[in-house]
Amino acid sequence: MNLSVIILAAGAGTRMRSSKPKVLHTLAGMPMLEHVYNTSKKLGAKQVQVVYGHGGDQLKQQCQHFEVEWALQAEQLGTAHAVQQASPNIAAEDVALILYGDVPLTKAETLQTLVKNVSGNNVSLLTVNLDDPTGYGRIVREGGKVTAIVEHKDASEAQKQIKEVNTGILAVNAGYLNECLDKIGNDNAQGEYYLTDIIALAVNDGNEVITTQVEHAYEAEGINDRKQLARIERIFQRGIADKLLTEGISLADPARLDVRGELTVGSDSFIDVNCVFEGRVDVGNGVTIAPGCVIKDASIGDDCIIKPYSVIENAVIEQQTEVGPFARIRPGTHLKQNSRVGNFVEIKNTELGENSKASHLSYLGDSEIGKNVNIGAGTITCNYDGANKFKTIIKDGAFIGSDTQLVAPVTVGENATIAAGSTITRDAPDDTLTLSRAAQKSIQGWRRPKKK
Ligand code: UD1
Ligand code: CA
Repeated sequence: MNLSVIILAAGAGTRMRSSKPKVLHTLAGMPMLEHVYNTSKKLGAKQVQVVYGHGGDQLKQQCQHFEVEWALQAEQLGTAHAVQQASPNIAAEDVALILYGDVPLTKAETLQTLVKNVSGNNVSLLTVNLDDPTGYGRIVREGGKVTAIVEHKDASEAQKQIKEVNTGILAVNAGYLNECLDKIGNDNAQGEYYLTDIIALAVNDGNEVITTQVEHAYEAEGINDRKQLARIERIFQRGIADKLLTEGISLADPARLDVRGELTVGSDSFIDVNCVFEGRVDVGNGVTIAPGCVIKDASIGDDCIIKPYSVIENAVIEQQTEVGPFARIRPGTHLKQNSRVGNFVEIKNTELGENSKASHLSYLGDSEIGKNVNIGAGTITCNYDGANKFKTIIKDGAFIGSDTQLVAPVTVGENATIAAGSTITRDAPDDTLTLSRAAQKSIQGWRRPKKK
């Protein structure tokens, strides 16, 4: 059986009050549409079509990496009309699964069950029980079997009492879907072509409607405004936090963790409050990450301590290393085992060797720093002449005195010492003290100026 997915995303989304199409608003750092797309891929869909109506340029631009076909629904005449913009492109023998770009949290396992339930011309429908079903299409049953879906605006008072509602998500044979869509009219309270009318048609044709219920209501929740999106975000994040806790990672507060990408953490690691993880982050065993750290696309080895308010991006941090507080580790940085980067140190495209330290107030860029090096407070690599970038090499065992400027390209030799306050413009030899500051003098009889 081939699966072909149609994602409806043509609604205007006016309640978001945004210039951006609704489905591009992000959940866990990723457009809602991308969540639905990824779920489709997880299900092994051979074809994915997105029905869009607004902001096509923005959508296609931001979703360039999707393998999808775009189907324009120029006018939003209802969900059946929306599906019809894409369903004729599906091979008749495929199973069509209808998803929604603004329903981001449906689990792949739930949909797998839904798709499995398609047989012959039966319709497989995802439903949910809601305490407050206001606004939703009600599932009407007779003798336990579904006979129709009645939209809230078309429902009788008795039907309005039904708590089982339509999620909108359904799977059906594509050939049969197209047959039904041709028969659906718009004679209803909203004057729309309702996809839900397929249910009554199928029943009339002697087919059965097989329902699957979602475990959690959020799986079926469609996002209409930013309040809802923010609430769903917390539910999603809570799920990630619970998974980490189960895997043996401690969190100071599972409600104050944000993972916008993929985070793996070894056992006995601890993540304090208000940390944000983006992209792909791998954290080892026994690591402590203090409050307020922002870590993106990085790997952090065992037993590291990342102190408060450190920002790390695109870096490799080896085991037993300490970073922060208030450190900025920029792309291309490799901190080797047991090294240390302290407060107000910015480090970019630099390798810091084993047991080396840059503990305070420095900028280290485009550098190669060996083992057992001490970088004094206020050291700056002057790597940029306004046009080009140059490299600084500091060899094993060197000691860079405080407030040194290293004007690249420049090399500091093995076990070399640079005196504090030096501006180093030429290579400094091994095992030697190099200094470049004026000799100190004191001027006798000098007086401070006085106010006139
Ligand atoms: C729909 C269902 C309802 C269900 C509810 C669940 C129908 C007729 N009703 O109602 O039974 O309980 O979803 O949330 O299907 N869309 C388009 N083009 C259109 C119309 C809609 O792409 O012409 C998209 C919207 O962007 C949205 C989705 O389809 O993502 C649902 O449309 P909406 O108008 O919100 O349907 P509901 O009235 O909520
Ligand atoms: Ca809706």
